[in-house]
Amino acid sequence: MLSHNMKLKKENKDYTTNIYGTRYFSQPIPKFEIPEEGMPSDVAYRLIHDELNLDGNPNLNLASFVTTWMEDEAEKLIAENNCKNFVDNDEYPQTGIIHSRIVNMLAKLFNAPESFNFAGASTIGSSEAIMLALLAHKWYWRENRKDKRSDALPNIVMGADVHVVWKKFAKYFDVELRMVPMEENCYILTADKVKEHVDENTMAIGVVLGTTFTGQIDEISEINEVLEKIKISEGWDIPIHVDAASGGFVMPFINPDFEWDFRLSHVRSINVSGHKYGLVYPGVGWVIFKDAKYISDDLVFNVNYLGGVMPTFSLNFSKGSSMVLAQYYNLLRLGIKGYTHIMENLMETSHYLLDKINDIGTFDFLNEEIVLPIIAVKLKNEFLDCISVFEISKMLRENGWIVPAYTLPSDAENIAVLRIVIKENFSRSMADILVKKLSEVHQYCLLRKDDLKHENLAENSLFNIY
Ligand SMILES: Cc1ncc(COP(=O)(O)O)c(C=O)c1O
Repeated sequence: MLSHNMKLKKENKDYTTNIYGTRYFSQPIPKFEIPEEGMPSDVAYRLIHDELNLDGNPNLNLASFVTTWMEDEAEKLIAENNCKNFVDNDEYPQTGIIHSRIVNMLAKLFNAPESFNFAGASTIGSSEAIMLALLAHKWYWRENRKDKRSDALPNIVMGADVHVVWKKFAKYFDVELRMVPMEENCYILTADKVKEHVDENTMAIGVVLGTTFTGQIDEISEINEVLEKIKISEGWDIPIHVDAASGGFVMPFINPDFEWDFRLSHVRSINVSGHKYGLVYPGVGWVIFKDAKYISDDLVFNVNYLGGVMPTFSLNFSKGSSMVLAQYYNLLRLGIKGYTHIMENLMETSHYLLDKINDIGTFDFLNEEIVLPIIAVKLKNEFLDCISVFEISKMLRENGWIVPAYTLPSDAENIAVLRIVIKENFSRSMADILVKKLSEVHQYCLLRKDDLKHENLAENSLFNIY
């Protein structure tokens, strides 16, 4: 005879219980093969939704630059347009028109001169934008160099502070990578270093407005001056591409007089991540050229199989329209004033946090003068034998906070840092809670120092004081 429980399992329980009483929650979830039978939509949703509780909390993610909050109206617009393939311009012409409006706005934000014929495109993020810009510079160099028959390899000069995508570009597209190493106490690309590395085959200089490692800014205007002099002395007209992935949506609002963009004579292209301080969910980025003449026709493909002839300059083909439209939403909704208020708040919170962390006394700052809402710290020398930034990162993670620890690129790889990226939904009160946790780390360091002095090596563990 079947037991009571078994009998229940045989019955249709749908009307006697909620979703957690259905058989799907006591069976293994398919992991390796597509299941033969499907399942009800609410069950599929709940199974996946619940499993994702194991992910970190995006609101406590101080590692990522990428937006983790948008307004309800933006989310509505995103949901309404998820079904539109951006590349299908013939079907969705209005989306294409809105896209052009955003390119106009960004070119203006980056001070593209009126006399130039600027151009631009949305991308999936800054990585695709950088690849496209560098491809354009490679073609331009090839088509405009003096000795067109030479088989010299083009080179690209950049600091070791660049994002990995720059190294990828050099490898994927067969360009010589001239990487200027970092030094202790100098984590940016400086103008004097550029001078030593360029020649007639330099197709572009890569500079960063807000490095991934420390949030600092390369010497962009000084590098521009060096290139102006080289143009006169050597006749080499070397363009600059500015990687403004994080800084491009911050600097124009908090420091509009700071010249890093198309106001500089050699800056010919700029990328920015819409999904970072453009305040849009991933993935949208932008590449803007000072003039369309820098994009060779050879790189633009015309396709007609979606109806109408459509030019494409992208690495991928299909992508969603939603994030492009969400970008437009933010530009209309916030305007210059709205973005400025948000960016000013971010900078205020960053300065507040920097002061508080300074008061704790455990860390030194790599970027004491913060220019973007990014703080990078290393342990003070006297605490290096007590703890590592990797342990601190792990402890913070166990408390919900996501703060990455990593070593700097060459030649500063002996320096290990923690980086905190301040985003719009990180309030001052959240900063206070984080500081409290970091103060506990300091207490631990003092105890540990005492243990080391008295050789009580196993006495304290970072994890047993929480
Ligand atoms: C300076 C810099 N450039 C490029 C990228 C790559 O950007 P995306 O993630 O938008 O492709 C990043 C990402 O953090 C970055 O910090």
